[in-house]
Parts: sequence; C-alpha cells; structure tokens
Amino acid sequence: MQSHESTYRALDSHSIRPKAPAMPDAVYVRDAFARIADRYVLTNHVLSCGMDIWWRKVVTARIRRWKPKSLLDVASGTGDLALEIQDHCPDCDVIASDFCAEMLAHAASRGVAHTLVADALQLPFPDGKFDVVTVAFGLRNMADYPAALREMFRVLKPGGHLLILDFSLPGGILRTPYRLYLHHVLPRMAGWLTGQRDAYEYLGGSIEAFPSGDAMCDLLETCGFTAPDARPLTGGVVSIYQATRPMP
Ligand SMILES: C[S@@+](CC[C@H](N)C(=O)[O-])C[C@H]1O[C@@H](n2cnc3c(N)ncnc32)[C@H](O)[C@@H]1O
Repeated sequence: MQSHESTYRALDSHSIRPKAPAMPDAVYVRDAFARIADRYVLTNHVLSCGMDIWWRKVVTARIRRWKPKSLLDVASGTGDLALEIQDHCPDCDVIASDFCAEMLAHAASRGVAHTLVADALQLPFPDGKFDVVTVAFGLRNMADYPAALREMFRVLKPGGHLLILDFSLPGGILRTPYRLYLHHVLPRMAGWLTGQRDAYEYLGGSIEAFPSGDAMCDLLETCGFTAPDARPLTGGVVSIYQATRPMP
C-alpha cells in the first residue's frame, strides 16, 4: 500500500498549507476508502456538523428542475447523493458507480437500486447515455481531473448537465482558521472516529490541490462544457459547479 506521504509528497504536516501537492494516486485512494467504508457516513456527518446532508439536498433540488430520465452518479461511494436523488426524482433511472467495491456495497445495502463498480476514467457506458452526471466529493480524488471530466462529458447527452459538489477553501478571514481545522483538528477527530487518521490527512492536501471557482469553470470549458457556473456554499467550504454538454 502506498502511504499518504508519497501520495502528497510535498505535504508538510507542520504547516497550515501544504506545498505544491501532487495529483491523487488511484491505488492509495481506493485502499483508503475501502478502509473507512464502514464509518464513512457517520464520520462525514460528524465532521461537517450535518452540513453534508444539506449540501446534497441543494444539489438534488437543482436536478429536480431538469426532470432527468437517466442519471449517473460517479464516485458515488456509500450512495448518499444517489439515494437523495432516487428519493426525489422517482421517474429517473439513477446509476451509482464507484471503483471501490467496499464503499459501493454500502450504497446497495442502503437502498441504491443500481450500483456498478467502475473507474470514472473509463466508464463502461456508450456516448451520450445520460441526461445528468453528478459527482460529489469524488472528482478531487481522481488521478486526472481533465480525463475524468472528458469521460463524464462523453457519457452525457448533448444538452445534458454535469453537477459537481466538492470542497473548496473559504476566502477572507475564514481561510486561516479553516486551514487549521482542516490540517490539524479534522484528521485527529477523524482518526478517533475511524482509526484511519492518514486517510483524513490526505483530505486536506486534496482540497488544497483541487481547482475551485473560476479555475474549475475554466477547466470545465477546456474539457468541452459550456455555461460553467460556480456557487459557493457555507462560506465557500464547498462549491457546486454546473456545466452543460453543448448541442452539436
Ligand atoms: C469522498 S468519497 C465521495 C462519496 C460520495 N459521492 C459522497 O458524496 O459521499 C470519494 C469516492 O470517490 C471514489 N473514487 C475516487 N477515484 C475514483 C475513480 N477513478 N473512479 C471511481 N471512483 C473513484 C472513491 O472510491 C470514493 O468512494
């Protein structure tokens, strides 16, 4: 197993901000999620003070307006977003995919009707299959963001929508205290809850490395999407990004 030190080689755990983090390593990421799968849902709720439930409801409310018939939730993990969408969009066929079978087993046991073990960088679907593709807290963990976004673009129908929910960094005076929480408090708390502190030390580095705001909108356009939009929630702790696969 690769350690988190080599996954984010430049991470200096004594500083507030890691220096020049590298891209996530797929083997480490899959193993880390397999190790925390049993405690993942509870730990999320505790560390976000329950805010993660509301963030997924905001995403689902947006999707409902589009009345999709088919939706792929990439990197669905334990299926929290897929379940929310399944409950509120009863006419939509929701497929939850993830490359970590241990995480996806929880999604299935919690009631997600269609689950599929699959790597987001090589989705086993034909071009233009889905009305909507979602990815919550997943893209950040992938080894190649542009390749993953191009794959999501490929499986979307022309005119279909992509929704990304992920962590970002708050601006202004909140940034420094948030970084202290992220790099020092959160890994300790998560370590107590899961016994896997390193998986949560990885989290801070991955958030620092992840493009946010205008940078994510630029990346979406580079990958072929149009009308990219970024909306920060909870003071910028997370952001929702929306973009569309253009009609030919
Ligand atoms: C933080 S969890 C998010 C789970 C869920 N979407 C949620 O909102 O709680 C990240 C998930 O991304 C998955 N993942 C990371 N890279 C992946 C890839 N290349 N292909 C498929 N799944 C991937 C992990 O296995 C993990 O289940």
